[in-house]
Amino acid sequence: MRFSIVQPVTIAAVALIHTANPVLAACGFDKVGLLTDPGFTITVNSNYKVLEDTAAKVKYGLYCDDTQPSDVAGIDRWFKVPVESVGLRISMASGFLEALGHSDKLIAAESPRNLTNICLDASKIQTLDPASTTSNSSSVDVIFSADEGSDSNISVRLPSNDALTPLQKAEWIKFVAAFFNDEKSADSLFSSIADAYNCHWGNLQHLKDAPHAYWVQYTDGATPSYSIIDTAYQKDLLAGAGATNNTRAALDDSSDQAAFQDAIKDADFVFDQSELHSYGQRATEWYSNFGYKNPKNSGVTFLTSRNIWRTDGFTNKAGVSNFAEFGYVRPDLVLQDIISVLEPKYDTDYSRRWLLWLGGTNESTTVISPDNYDCAKPWFSTVDKCSARTDFTGDSDSDTPDSEADDTDSDSGSGSGRAGKIAGGVIGAAVFVALVIVALHYYNRHRRNVRIQALAQAEYGTDGIDLRDTRRFS
Ligand SMILES: *[C@@H]1O[C@H](CO)[C@@H](O)[C@H](O)[C@H]1NC(C)=O
Ligand SMILES: *[C@@H]1O[C@H](CO)[C@@H](O)[C@H](O)[C@H]1NC(C)=O
Ligand SMILES: *[C@@H]1O[C@H](CO)[C@@H](O)[C@H](O)[C@H]1NC(C)=O
Ligand SMILES: *[C@@H]1O[C@H](CO)[C@@H](O)[C@H](O)[C@H]1NC(C)=O
Ligand SMILES: *[C@@H]1O[C@H](CO)[C@@H](O)[C@H](O)[C@H]1NC(C)=O
Repeated sequence: MRFSIVQPVTIAAVALIHTANPVLAACGFDKVGLLTDPGFTITVNSNYKVLEDTAAKVKYGLYCDDTQPSDVAGIDRWFKVPVESVGLRISMASGFLEALGHSDKLIAAESPRNLTNICLDASKIQTLDPASTTSNSSSVDVIFSADEGSDSNISVRLPSNDALTPLQKAEWIKFVAAFFNDEKSADSLFSSIADAYNCHWGNLQHLKDAPHAYWVQYTDGATPSYSIIDTAYQKDLLAGAGATNNTRAALDDSSDQAAFQDAIKDADFVFDQSELHSYGQRATEWYSNFGYKNPKNSGVTFLTSRNIWRTDGFTNKAGVSNFAEFGYVRPDLVLQDIISVLEPKYDTDYSRRWLLWLGGTNESTTVISPDNYDCAKPWFSTVDKCSARTDFTGDSDSDTPDSEADDTDSDSGSGSGRAGKIAGGVIGAAVFVALVIVALHYYNRHRRNVRIQALAQAEYGTDGIDLRDTRRFS
């Protein structure tokens, strides 16, 4: 009885494969929209798509057939997609690959020891010539770089400065995903990241007494310089955490130490992005760089409370911070890190990822290892739900812990979790005609497999790692 059902289906499948062949010539690219104005556009056509980097004014053509379209004008570089192998000269690319489940395609880096993702197979990562304009790694399909011309016809630029807001920068995951035809997964992940970011941002706009905070940087040199960082990336994070942001005018003279000290003397918190070298003595180094001789008795709030923070709390064995590699991919977590410093009562269950308290007696960074990072439970795929609230004022008497905002124990609200469940349902329904579906839609199967991967990741739940225990410093 069973045979009589299966056989016609098999025959139908074979018949369909024959008639469907010409249809396979179309790429079947997914179309996704953009939520921010990230500095690139994606235009999808039947057998190619165009990624335009509007800041660098470069157009990349991505095609799926064996032959590159010949009748399209204005394309600077063509790539056959999906690409198989990737090189990088910008750490952020590694974070995007990890989030998309493509870390296995990373085979070359300008500085492999600067990579912090312990789940990469270090033995297969070649070193790229730092100065090359034609890559010396012949087997790489594309090299992501801060400079669009670094590797001639396989070079692709990602934004490297902080002129974009955290969400604009993170939305470049869709740009990277286009090289793997994974825009849908990227879209789903980014949407949940943006929802969480905007939700926390909104929740922190009701403070009774907004803290004052600045990002600062000391730069060594013949004439040392002192800067208040006022780029969009840092400003948006401080504003989103409810702090009054960097609205100070830039110093007329960046070498004027006294003017700098005067400009930030109202700070409750300072976030530092200077290079520091004296491990174990970095707080002392910091005071000395900025010219604070007696911080304890200075009468300046951030100095007396020693509230100086950095983003390098989580490093690889070589001491390289993980922030540039993973932080840009998850602005919702970076924002929650900053909120956890400025307003610790907002979510007492949150464990900080990157921020390190430089003013503490123990400035040890957390070195990434299998003890604190489980490669089977990537921390990119699950985004904790944030519930909108207007009652958090930062005032300890009136704030009550919000059970929904604190809810971190379920993946029910996770964007990728939800997408994964939908994909799972589709897969279940499709099982009885699997033969037909697999034969007809090879590339769709590939795409679904990516989602199955996402589902498997989401099932592990939230917070696979617990990088920084906030209570350690209290
Ligand atoms: C590697 O990391 C070091 C220390 O953070 C930095 O000085 C250097 O520029 C990095 N190299 C590359 C190629 O990114
Ligand atoms: C590329 O060049 C760099 C520096 O010149 C060298 O260290 C590396 O081994 C080269 N890589 C390959 C794959 O030839
Ligand atoms: C880049 O140029 C080389 C040498 O001309 C060529 O072999 C290769 O196919 C080109 N790659 C792409 C992606 O256009
Ligand atoms: C500073 O933050 C406020 C919200 O607290 C925002 O309205 C304003 O646009 C921000 N200013 C700048 C220059 O970012
Ligand atoms: C600092 O913290 C690290 C990590 O918790 C710990 O291993 C180390 O022993 C601490 N060092 C001191 C001096 O307390």
